[in-house]
Amino acid sequence: MNTNEPFIGMHKTELDTPALLIDLDKMEANIETMASYFSTVNADLRPHVKTHKTPIISHKQIAAGAIGVTCAKLGEAEAVIHAGIRDVLIANQVVGPHKIARLINLAKHSEIMVAVDNFENVQAISEAAAAKGATVRMLIEVNIGMNRCGVEPGEPVLKLAEKVRQSPNLKFEGLMGYEGHTVTKRNQVERDAAAREAMQHLLDAKHYLEKQGVEVSIMSGGGTGTFNITGSIPEMTEVQAGSYIFMDSTYGNVEGVGEQFDCSLSVLATVVSRPSPNRVIVDTGLKVLAKEFGIPQPVGVNGVELTGLSEEHGTIQVSDENVSLKPGDKLEILPSHCCTTVNLHDRYYGIRQGIVESVWDITARGKAQ
Ligand SMILES: Cc1ncc(COP(=O)(O)O)c(C=O)c1O
Repeated sequence: MNTNEPFIGMHKTELDTPALLIDLDKMEANIETMASYFSTVNADLRPHVKTHKTPIISHKQIAAGAIGVTCAKLGEAEAVIHAGIRDVLIANQVVGPHKIARLINLAKHSEIMVAVDNFENVQAISEAAAAKGATVRMLIEVNIGMNRCGVEPGEPVLKLAEKVRQSPNLKFEGLMGYEGHTVTKRNQVERDAAAREAMQHLLDAKHYLEKQGVEVSIMSGGGTGTFNITGSIPEMTEVQAGSYIFMDSTYGNVEGVGEQFDCSLSVLATVVSRPSPNRVIVDTGLKVLAKEFGIPQPVGVNGVELTGLSEEHGTIQVSDENVSLKPGDKLEILPSHCCTTVNLHDRYYGIRQGIVESVWDITARGKAQ
């Protein structure tokens, strides 16, 4: 018997907790909203797996029009490729012999593409691919102002592109730049200006290469906060947005984004104690809720504030004495960062109109290698 079967058909409040819930109607509406935007522009959507880490959701995004997926880690790429998805970008550097061996194995079963920003890494991937008769597609990552990975636009990009083009068993596809320092800027005008300034560095790098006769087929970048900024630039060919599928309280407050996508993810909690009228303790602590973007808050209950998280407990301050929460009651908490919260859970309960419709294992959860 499928161990998930007993849950199907239950009301969500009957589930044991902590439990990670997806409101399926809202998630599907988010997929639809994003897909319809990308049907109007030149760029395609290559949604990021790091948010949901679950191949069935990638399949839903592809069925709605996405060209493939973006991954942060090899472990995510393995999960989606084993589930039949072929067009996969690892928007990250794959470094070291163990990981390169896994990359080459994947290249034999997919059209995997990887970001590079270093000569030795390009050399190592080329040698490993040649030894196995595989071909690896490459994007050069350009630093467009986030100051994370990436080579600088201009001559450094050209030199690395030439290295990729001259190396056996590699295919130079184009450029990638992630404007991560701009995506959660709340003010729409400021975010627009900052993202366009960042993307101009990627466009400059492209024009520099083209002047030297290097063809740039793929231009990849973008996140949820910039999907319709980066996505509207005619020379961009794809956008890597991920969080839009679930949203969270952080992206919900980003002007022009929060209005378009609904928060579809929540963590169901049980009240385990009410030691005093103004304090309620729930069973959702740091092991099921991430807090690096702020303490997540309960939804649908007025007069309460989650003020502290320890490993297994959440402490809620009650300012309205009419709040009747007592041990055994359940409430939902809206994550402040969907991606890191998902990574703390084994499975999703897919809910439609209050009822459990499906249970999905979060296959790539914890796949940090
Ligand atoms: C390389 C890269 N691309 C795209 C994204 C977009 O993610 P989000 O949709 O969460 O903004 C991220 C987020 O961390 C990223 O690191």
